[in-house]
Amino acid sequence: MSDVVTYTRDGDIAVIAVNNPPVNALSHAVRKGMQDALRKFESDPEAKAAVIVGEGRTFMAGADISEFGKPPQEPWLPELVNEIEACSKPVVASLHGTPLGGGLEVALGAHWRVAQPDTRVGLPEVHLGILPGAGGTQRLPRVAGVEAALDMITSGRHVPAAEALEKGIIDAIDDSGDPRAAGVAFARKLLAEGKGVRRTGDMTAAGHDPALFDAWRAEMKKKSRGQLSPVVCVDAVEASNLPLPEGLKRERELFQKLHDDPQRAALVHAFFAERAVAKVPEASATPRKLEKIGIIGGGTMGAGIAAAALQAGLKVVMVERDAEAAARGEQNVRRNFASSVKKGRMTQEQLDALLAANFQATDDYGALSDVDLVIEAVFETMAVKKEVFAKLDAVVPEGAVLASNTSYLNIDEIAACTRRPQDVIGLHFFSPAHIMRLLEVIVGEKSAPDAVATGFLLAKKMKKVGVRCGVCDGFIGNRILGSYMKAANMMVEDGASPYVIDEAVREFGYPMGPFQMGDLAGLDIGYLSRRDRDATRDPADRYAAGFLDRMYEKGWIGQKAGMGFYDYSQNPRSGPPNPGVMPLIEEERKKLGITPREFSKEEIMRRYVAATVNEAAKVVGEGIALRPLDVDMVSIFGYGYPRWRGGPMHYADHVGLDRILADIREFEKEDPRFWKPAPLLVELVESGRKFGDLNNA
Ligand code: 3HC
Ligand code: NAI
Repeated sequence: MSDVVTYTRDGDIAVIAVNNPPVNALSHAVRKGMQDALRKFESDPEAKAAVIVGEGRTFMAGADISEFGKPPQEPWLPELVNEIEACSKPVVASLHGTPLGGGLEVALGAHWRVAQPDTRVGLPEVHLGILPGAGGTQRLPRVAGVEAALDMITSGRHVPAAEALEKGIIDAIDDSGDPRAAGVAFARKLLAEGKGVRRTGDMTAAGHDPALFDAWRAEMKKKSRGQLSPVVCVDAVEASNLPLPEGLKRERELFQKLHDDPQRAALVHAFFAERAVAKVPEASATPRKLEKIGIIGGGTMGAGIAAAALQAGLKVVMVERDAEAAARGEQNVRRNFASSVKKGRMTQEQLDALLAANFQATDDYGALSDVDLVIEAVFETMAVKKEVFAKLDAVVPEGAVLASNTSYLNIDEIAACTRRPQDVIGLHFFSPAHIMRLLEVIVGEKSAPDAVATGFLLAKKMKKVGVRCGVCDGFIGNRILGSYMKAANMMVEDGASPYVIDEAVREFGYPMGPFQMGDLAGLDIGYLSRRDRDATRDPADRYAAGFLDRMYEKGWIGQKAGMGFYDYSQNPRSGPPNPGVMPLIEEERKKLGITPREFSKEEIMRRYVAATVNEAAKVVGEGIALRPLDVDMVSIFGYGYPRWRGGPMHYADHVGLDRILADIREFEKEDPRFWKPAPLLVELVESGRKFGDLNNA
């Protein structure tokens, strides 16, 4: 047999075991090994039934994603699954861990399935831009019905063993803790009961109704914002009323269509980038103890961070300015759990018990005497931050990590007002902090590697995506945001409608446009920060924010005021354009002597993309982001960048860096200060390389 697949016998039961760590991905070697083992089983007169099992932590977790896009090598997975199903003697799949994608498809090709209680099965291919291409779209509806299959295949969700049993995806749950023994026992029982081969392909998919597929397609189109795979998954499941060979043929055609689309490469890039982003120089340091954290400030961010920490099982002490503010802080934390209680994910009693055991809100800094890490989330003013850090320095134990959630301020300057700059890092959360998955971990000049590693450990505990950032104004995300927001504002001054810009950006795949986002965040934030920075602003820079200042003066600061670019008087979350905005913009244009011109959506996006990529290239070139993939992760997890485009750097490679640089050079003629090409972009174009080449460097 091969190194990765073994064929052994336990009496009259053959055991085909896959051993390809870490997740037993169905690489070429595994497929070949399994095929050889199956053929051996068929010709082994002593073997009455076979068990397929995974060694280590899981049954096969899917096809080997790193083989995607490379020339396929036989045997192909669909053929292998067909061969399993065609076996003349019973085959049992004994599941544990995460039998996902091709792993579940192998199991559905087997005649029977038994699982350990903590197994989670699923067909997550949709998230990789493809569909289950080894029979999953045809066999899952046959065992679980069309509706359940549509749900699982379009969402990719992991289904726990108990639900899988209820849906008919598995036949039994075994709690022996030993998948091999469980499979063998199950096979013996089958033989004893005189049960044998039971082919999924011979079953009928229940619940076929053309109207159901139309409804799912419409729903997927609406939800997926340009991503192809969810809609095509519905088309594939629809073919499950055909005889199996025809259904499989249809599945293959649709699979191929998705496989060849750039969305697949983008989503696979995002899959690997999400894992690579934690590979930072400080990852080799041992993180410090992390059980109890302090949070300074119980406002929007402090309360969100507290909720995220409590969900992660950490103890939290929140320090506010006075007792009244501390009580408000606790209420803010409770509010963050309200929807969990409403949706039945936890009861009010459980919430009360969690807070009683693990949460304290106080105005006494002395309560921080036993914390392992502190996150400051007070007002965004250097003077206040310095005052707080000086206090922390006096009360927080030696060796604890001191972090600031500042959006823009200089971490090194904050660190310098303590006696322990080596313990200071930035931990930049995104609002709402208990929901948004991005956490920028800011590494200061003097931050110790183990303090940084502790920041990444916190991200992991909170199930967030930690991204390493150097110190600069706005770090990775807000700095790039500042650039494309400025490009958008300049277009508005020059003649574009903010509503058309929002529409173009949504059509690109973002959940909302920049002006909707401004309304959501509050236009007062930008105004106040512009006012604070005006003193340092170079007068030669184009301001491009006059109309935003006028809106602030009118009190049109967004959702919280009921009026911003949009009118929220009827609905607090969305509404029609505010009719006062365009006249105000026109007035500003007149004041600036600008004759407005037309902007097509295509030009809007060219400028939006160019501004994003140019700033991102500066961020990478200056070493603020370690690699282009770090920028992609920040944009996807913090700013709603469409994952199916892979992030701005992956997308730039797809469009062609030469094309983007040519755009920037064209825009540079109008405004050479803003549109100055990033040196890294020029260098890459001149040397014929891509951002992607830097990811593995
Ligand atoms: N192919 C190749 N590598 C894989 C892989 C796969 N299917 N699944 C995981 N890996 C790698 C990861 O990249 C990671 O590598 P690294 O250590 O070098 O960074 C390593 O295995 C461990 O993965 P995780 O860090 O994600 O480990 P977790 O324990 O957190 O999660 C998991 C395990 C739930 C299995 C998760 O890895 C996962 O969701 N994997 C992908 C599952 C999937 O999408 N399967 C479908 C594949 S497509 C398919 O089957 C097509 C078929 O229909 C034809
Ligand atoms: P907020 O105004 O909602 O809350 C700040 C809280 O800090 C207030 O409750 C205030 O009472 C408290 N506070 C002020 N001085 C204090 C002191 N000396 N000791 C204890 N508590 C004190 O502000 P928000 O939005 O929570 O922002 C906090 C920080 O997080 C800022 O640095 C901000 O830039 C940053 N941030 C904000 C984001 C957002 O979307 N709101 C996103 C990411 C970072």
